[in-house]
Parts: sequence; C-alpha cells; structure tokens
Amino acid sequence: MKGLILVGGYGTRLRPLTLTLPKPLVEFGNRPMILHQVESLAAAGVKDIVLAVNYRPEVMVATLKKYEEEYGVNITFSVETEPLGTAGPLKLAEDILKKDDSPFFVLNSDIICDYPFAELAEFHKAHGGEGTIVATKVDEPSKYGVIVHKPESSQIDRFVEKPVEFVGNRINAGIYILNPSVIDLIELRPTSIEKETFPKLCERGSLHSFDLEGYWMDVGQPKDFLSGTCLYLTSLAKKNSKLLTATSEPFVQGGNVLIDPTAKISPEAKIGPNVVIGPNVTVGAGARLSRSVVLSNANIKPHAYVKNSIIGWNSTVGRWARVENVSVLGDDVEVKDEIYVNGGRVLPHKTIAGNVEKPEIIM
Ligand code: GDD
Ligand code: MG
Repeated sequence: MKGLILVGGYGTRLRPLTLTLPKPLVEFGNRPMILHQVESLAAAGVKDIVLAVNYRPEVMVATLKKYEEEYGVNITFSVETEPLGTAGPLKLAEDILKKDDSPFFVLNSDIICDYPFAELAEFHKAHGGEGTIVATKVDEPSKYGVIVHKPESSQIDRFVEKPVEFVGNRINAGIYILNPSVIDLIELRPTSIEKETFPKLCERGSLHSFDLEGYWMDVGQPKDFLSGTCLYLTSLAKKNSKLLTATSEPFVQGGNVLIDPTAKISPEAKIGPNVVIGPNVTVGAGARLSRSVVLSNANIKPHAYVKNSIIGWNSTVGRWARVENVSVLGDDVEVKDEIYVNGGRVLPHKTIAGNVEKPEIIM
C-alpha cells in the first residue's frame, strides 16, 4: 500500500519551535511528530510513503533515512517549487500513487489520533466509492472542513471548508483513503483538495466518511499542541502503556507523565499531571511542572514553576522562576532566576532578565 503525508511548509504557527526544526521533526510525546504517522502507516502494511514538502528538506532527509530501515518503508520526498496546496501534491506524486491500482492514504501532517488505517482501508473497499474521509466531532467546527451526510448513509452530501455559518460538527480529521482515479480530477497547480476535489467527488456520490474512535487533535499551534499532548498521554494511560513513567516515582503527581530515561529528575520535584520530559533534561529539587512539555537538554532549576507551557531544547528556567499560560521558549533560551513569564513566545537564544507580564513575542 501507499501513503502521502502533506507536510507543507515550516509550520509558522508553531513558532518559535519551528525556527529551529521543521514542524514534522518537533517532538510530540518525545518522538518526531511525523514518526507517529510513519509508524502507524507501516503497521497497516504501507510500503511507499511520500512526504510532500515545499521547502528544501535536507534536515528531514537525514533524519528520515534512519526510519526507512527501522520501519521497512521507502520514504520519498516530493518537493514543490511553489506551494501546491492540499491537492496539487497528489498530482505531483502521481508516479508513485498510481504505480498500482490499490487505493492510497493521505494525511495532514499536523494531526494526532490513534490512526485507524487498517479499518479505514476495509471500510473503503466495502462501500466501493472513490474516496473516504475520516470524521471526528469538535466543538468549534468553523476552523475545519465540515462533512454533511446523506440521511442514513455514509455517503457525503456536501463538504464545506471553514464554514461561516453552522452546518454541523462532524469534521474532516485530515485522514483520507483515495482511489488512484481521484488523481485524474486534480491539475498540477496550487489547488485545494477540500475546496476543489471533495466537492467534485460529492457530486459523483463517490465520497464517504468513516467515524474516528477516540481522541483527535490538530496540533499545529502551541495551545493545541499542549491539549493534544494531554489527550495522547491520557490515551497511553488507558492502554496501560509502559512508555509512561510509573506513578510510584516520588516526583510523579497525578499521572500521565512521560519522562525520557536519560532525564535527571530530583526526587523532590513535583511533576504532573500531563507532562512530557525529553532526553537529558534536568529538573531540580522543589521544581513544579504541570501540563507542559520540556524538550531535550533543558534545565529546570530548583523551585521553578512551569505550567501549561513548552520549554525548548537547551533552555534554562531559573530558580524560583515562573513560566505559564502557553509560554513557548525556543531553542537555547535562558529565563533568569525569579523571573515571571506569562504567555511569552521567546525566540531562540534569548535571555529573559525582566518579567514578561502579558502574552507577547520576545525577539
Ligand atoms: N505539500 C504541501 N504543500 N502541504 C501543504 C500545503 C502545500 O502547499 N499547504 C498545506 N499543506 C499541509 C499542511 O502542512 C497540513 O499538514 C495540511 O496540508 C493541512 O493544512 P493546514 O494549513 O494545517 O489546514 P487546516 O488545519 O487549516 O485545515 C485542514 O485540516 C483540518 C483538520 O486539522 C483541512 O483539511 C480541514 O478540512 C481539516 O478539517
Ligand atoms: Mg492544520
């Protein structure tokens, strides 16, 4: 089987992290975001994976070569010279996606869930249409593509991208399976699968939807990245995953804590619930962390307080400092002792020596 991941640009909405790494390589749950998708595709029997990018992918090529062997897949970069939107990249990768008659998967790179690829493929074959979209329910459908159904059927009547008026709350989760025939509807130019291709398939009565079980999140911006992390950790806890740190550890508070084994955590720190700590991180005595992500090599000094925030690689949070309210520290940021950061987005290599009282970008 085959799959294409719409990787797109650098991910400006996840700045300042994406000033250092392209979005797919930013660690989610201590592993590059894209690896969760590659692993699940491989597990469903996908052998050929196309990564559709519109920047020079050198950094990613090196990282992903390693995973080709590990997961037994071929990874091809399909590089756009101008952004081709969400449909154009399928046409660009036609040679691979059409190399046999079997359907192929398409994925937005910024979504996380328990990917249901095997069930999706089975459902798709059974209804006989040309495409199937995975659907999930959300509270705020206006940010997404909304699916309107034919009564009593999986067939989609209308697909409305970013509706201004309420049409429903079952939305496109950004996961599809499509027959090669769908590529014939797409021209090689910047074009949107949501606005141009899906409406055509609806007209032909050839587009169906498949309901996703469990959690789902578009983690393309910091607030949602943190919410998605909570959902992911909760799902690991439900599965009794060995990845989570044992709640018997003296520093774990309230569970849902994922700590890389190379991190050095003081037994007098308090961590949790919903915290991810990366490789070689140090957390000092009396530090308090909740609902946060700490990326590799960061140093959280004694008695620091970190809540609802992302601490970038190699950054330092000083003694008695307080970082909260969806603050994001880029790579190699230093927050001095006793400093307060409230919703700050701090660009790489900055030193914060004065309080950041209200949410702002620190350049
Ligand atoms: N290769 C390539 N080229 N990829 C692109 C391009 C492009 O020009 N433009 C966007 N992408 C990728 C993005 O990186 C992302 O992985 C995916 O296509 C979707 O783009 P977003 O910009 O994240 O769209 P969205 O989140 O506003 O809406 C989409 O996702 C929602 C689910 O999160 C739509 O598919 C909605 O219908 C859907 O509900
Ligand atoms: Mg998105």
